[in-house]
Amino acid sequence: MTPPRRPVRIGASILAADFADLGNAVRATERGGAAMVHVDVMDGRFVPPITIGSVVVEALRRVTGLPLDVHLMVEEPERHLEVFARAGAASIAFHVEAARDPHRALAHLRTLGVQAGVAINPGTPPEACAPLVDLLDFVLVMSVNPGYAGQAFIPDVLPKIGRLRALLGERPAWIGIDGGISPATAPQAASAGADVLMAASAIFAAPEGIEAATIRLRAAAQW
Ligand code: DX5
Ligand code: ZN
Repeated sequence: MTPPRRPVRIGASILAADFADLGNAVRATERGGAAMVHVDVMDGRFVPPITIGSVVVEALRRVTGLPLDVHLMVEEPERHLEVFARAGAASIAFHVEAARDPHRALAHLRTLGVQAGVAINPGTPPEACAPLVDLLDFVLVMSVNPGYAGQAFIPDVLPKIGRLRALLGERPAWIGIDGGISPATAPQAASAGADVLMAASAIFAAPEGIEAATIRLRAAAQW
């Protein structure tokens, strides 16, 4: 018999939200049972687009009680850790491909009192996290190449989740998956072992509305 699993959680990635109505959009995901709000910070260098900065995290802090999960897709992430922590992030991940010294950056995040994580691109092996295990609160496995919402899910990344779990051993770190999550792909991501599924388009661009889409995705994730 399969042992009981803790529920798989949903992170609402605001990249596909109506930024002119962000407060209401985020509150609707909260009603739908999202576990966190995922904030995609892009600098126009690590990835082509420029999105949002710490002022938006500060504003979100005032409208939701959900933890704010900041995903830094920026070069030189070391320069931005403190400002996002002070803005009210509960967790911050930077890309292991972008940091000059990921070990030092994770140690810094921990001193700032936030959960410390790294994100890994589809082309990066999970073994890149091996020297960092003792400092990790979570790992974000990218299931698209970062930069845009609405891209197709890359199923080839799924075996990385089990390899990461093995690397993390007894460490109580969570594994998130980010990109192309929908009611159709959520069961694969959940059964591969992801703890948190981040989704933008499937929540904020869903015809049934934000709250109903969040509920539907949460149901699809309980494989
Ligand atoms: C991609 C971002 C994702 C993105 C997900 O660079 O990190 O968080 O918003 O968008 P969907 O769910 O539409 O693939
Ligand atoms: Zn993201």
